[in-house]
Amino acid sequence: MPRVTVTRRLNFNAAHRLHNPALSEQENRELFGLCNSPNWHGHNYRLDVSVAGEVDERTGYVIDLKVLRDLVETHLIDKMDHKNLNVDVDFLRAINPTAENIVVACWRVLEPAVKPAALTKLRLWETDNNYVEYEGE
Ligand code: NI
Repeated sequence: MPRVTVTRRLNFNAAHRLHNPALSEQENRELFGLCNSPNWHGHNYRLDVSVAGEVDERTGYVIDLKVLRDLVETHLIDKMDHKNLNVDVDFLRAINPTAENIVVACWRVLEPAVKPAALTKLRLWETDNNYVEYEGE
């Protein structure tokens, strides 16, 4: 059976502050720049969720993309959209919310939720120019 990868894109808007309490205020400012702003700031994030599987003979789908959208909304987007990623999101608690750390945390939540489909890649866009990808490890 052919295996195909399908991808759904979802958007969310959220505030954060990048800060490592183990570093000095000056080191944090130098390292994180505007993202260290003490009173938060926002990003318009995009999350591309890819799952792979065999094409179902009856439906012609790997997974119904509406089903995938609902799963991602329930487990991730509804928890992060219009929230403060440093304080409001249970699965990001105590994490410095860089795009790298966010994408790994999202994977750990979503990977079990999409089974039997196989999560193969998350691509998290923090700006139009910057994205990170995670394929699990
Ligand atoms: Ni930022």
